Amino acid sequence: MTRQRWSSRTVFILAAVGSAVGLGNLWRFPYLVGKYGGGAFLIPYLIALVLIGVPLLILELAVGQKMQQGVIGSYQKLNPSCGGLGLLALISSFIIVSYYAVVMAWSLIYLFASFGVQWSGNAESYFYQEVLQISDSVNSLGGINKSVLVALLIIWILVYFCIRQGTKSVGRVVRYTVPLPVILLGALLLRAVTLPGFIDGWAMYLTPDWRALLNPEVWTAAFSQIFYTLSLAFGIMITYGSYKDYDDDIAKNAWITALLNSGTSLFAGFVVFGVLGYMAGETGTSLTELAASGPGLAFVVFPEALSLMPLSGLFSLLFFLMLLLLGIDSAFSLAEAVNAAVVDRYQQLPITKVSIIVCCAAAIAGVIYTTRAGLYLLDIVDHFITSYNLLLVGICQSILVGWLYGAEKMRRYINQVSDWQVGKWWNLAVKYFVPLVLVTLLVAQLSQDLKISYEGYPAWALAIGWVIAIIPFVVFLLLLIINQSQKKA
Ligand code: PHE
Repeated sequence: MTRQRWSSRTVFILAAVGSAVGLGNLWRFPYLVGKYGGGAFLIPYLIALVLIGVPLLILELAVGQKMQQGVIGSYQKLNPSCGGLGLLALISSFIIVSYYAVVMAWSLIYLFASFGVQWSGNAESYFYQEVLQISDSVNSLGGINKSVLVALLIIWILVYFCIRQGTKSVGRVVRYTVPLPVILLGALLLRAVTLPGFIDGWAMYLTPDWRALLNPEVWTAAFSQIFYTLSLAFGIMITYGSYKDYDDDIAKNAWITALLNSGTSLFAGFVVFGVLGYMAGETGTSLTELAASGPGLAFVVFPEALSLMPLSGLFSLLFFLMLLLLGIDSAFSLAEAVNAAVVDRYQQLPITKVSIIVCCAAAIAGVIYTTRAGLYLLDIVDHFITSYNLLLVGICQSILVGWLYGAEKMRRYINQVSDWQVGKWWNLAVKYFVPLVLVTLLVAQLSQDLKISYEGYPAWALAIGWVIAIIPFVVFLLLLIINQSQKKA
């Protein structure tokens, strides 16, 4: 069977950028800048981009394109014992997409609530009490929240239609869903710069606090952000690479994708800080506090800011439409990574059928986050997946390509097909730098989680997180050992 293909290079880049650009750019990036030294944060961020982000992006695109398989098949072809690593990446993708879709469901609810700006005057209680109807603690699930469930169903129907024909439908969708949110961001920027106080926000965004560079936490945050923002270690970029021809460019595409993604983050920073500057002036709250409000930024602080401005309904609508459009390409890229692996394995099954099965399974897995304790569970699962599963995949994959397969061999292939040549530095990055940095991050995270229980959640709830972090990795190790012993026998 011939493999699916992107219809053009532009469509591929749009799809890759679409996956990379998401909530991480609009909410996580500005929040980290606010928390970790303003403009000074950009230094570790850019260093991480060049030393880890781009090398790994090149690596993943090259693996997929060379092996012409989804994530499980690609790893297997790289090294017959390592198919389990693909499974590890896929389990993470599946778990993440099941809650990422729930966050999108909240955005959908806000989109409708924009008519009449229903949260105005009580943004915080609107989010927690009305939208989430949150329970007192993770100990009480409190039943399913029907409006979130319905919104989740709608999101999954949308995702299904995006991926039902693989690259063909994805290719059609990304032509709109990738540029449109950037245009909407532009409209919001115009709004921001016509509000009083925006310049104070920008001053905070751009003024570097150099002392922050002495804090190791700032560096860890920058490296993890790069990992997350480029959608690395989920098998997505491998899958997307596998839909390109064997001799298509790799290195230049990777640089373009990475720069467009970080450019969007920087751009989003101007919008977010501009609006926060205005809000600080209106409400008398300190800017630092607003910027560091974390998860509440997109659903509490920003909605409140929107409600304060003239034409609030219109701009709220634009904002949540943008959030949905930003999120949907990331969501379906995760689902597509799972799809591709299933299609590789069961070639007789039509893509549409596989898509239905994957979407239904992930939607069902997501129901748990529509309970009244959904936000707590989401927080726990997100913490463990992004702190452990992703790092483990990242470490194993750089060892696999760098050491077992051979970085130089892969680099030769990349240079044979790419418009831009990749220097020997890439071998060093893949073999030494990436695994070293990721192991350091992993150890730092582990020692912190063992010292203090994450966010003070009860032991039973954190146990779910540990199970998610440990079991897939153990399965991967077992598969590795079984394969190795079969090979010897
Ligand atoms: N890169 C996305 C963002 O920045 C998040 C994401 C991670 C999406 C992994 C898909 C897979 O929001």
